[in-house]
Amino acid sequence: MTKGMIQLSGVQTAYEGSALPVIKGITCTINPGEFVIVGGPNGAGKTTLLETINGLLPIVHGQVVTGGIDVAKDGNSVRKQVGYVIQNFSFDPLAPFIVSDVVMMGRFGLLGYGRRPGEEDRRIAEEAMDLLGIRDLADRPIGKLSGGQQQKVLIAQSLAKQPDILLLDEPFSNLDLATRDFICGILADLTRRGCTIVMVSHAFDALPENGSIRVIVMNDGAITYNNTHSASEVERQVRGLSGRSNA
Ligand SMILES: Nc1ncnc2c1ncn2[C@@H]1O[C@H](COP(=O)(O)OP(=O)(O)O)[C@@H](O)[C@H]1O
Ligand SMILES: [Mg+2]
Repeated sequence: MTKGMIQLSGVQTAYEGSALPVIKGITCTINPGEFVIVGGPNGAGKTTLLETINGLLPIVHGQVVTGGIDVAKDGNSVRKQVGYVIQNFSFDPLAPFIVSDVVMMGRFGLLGYGRRPGEEDRRIAEEAMDLLGIRDLADRPIGKLSGGQQQKVLIAQSLAKQPDILLLDEPFSNLDLATRDFICGILADLTRRGCTIVMVSHAFDALPENGSIRVIVMNDGAITYNNTHSASEVERQVRGLSGRSNA
């Protein structure tokens, strides 16, 4: 069962044109259905780690296998089975897309060249909008929504992809507490169905309650902490860690 698995072995990745790698030798295996929260200071390489897993950056050393596929060999196939909710999105207020179009884009990569979305694709996209409670926004232009509404649309787009692996980069930054908890419930359901979730977040209070959570802390392009805890322990553990690093 390799579909939801992520394996990094001695990985270094660099941005195009950069002399030094940003990810500096990471080895780590994430199992199908795991919920992983990635923390660490600004600039630690958290976003870069997600991009590395999704095959978006040149790997200068080591190997990344996401969902059974070597990302350096076939990044496109990797990205078909991975949902990725990026960190700093911004939509032009005049962007010519309505919400239902943006959610449907989650289906496009799966359709194959030249195929148009069918009844089934529409049903899946509508389900994703219902789940996020944004069906009433379906016909609204994406650029005219609030940051929190746009965030929900992007999450719905990723869910419409029905991914085996879901990467979320600080998905709660625009969302109120009630919405965070609600989305955590959705994420917990996904892991129960075998989806692997890797989420960069500082919201250690907003975590799925059931099951264990793997906490990865990054610093300067490396993993400095990697351990599994119950949801209630995570915040205390992470605060303890940052206390130590500031000492
Ligand atoms: N597109 C880019 N080109 C070159 N360097 C980058 C790029 N994006 C990020 N970096 C650098 O990589 C390092 C890690 O950034 P990032 O992964 O965004 O950190 P985090 O998400 O943990 O805040 C930083 O030093 C940052 O300056
Ligand atoms: Mg980041």
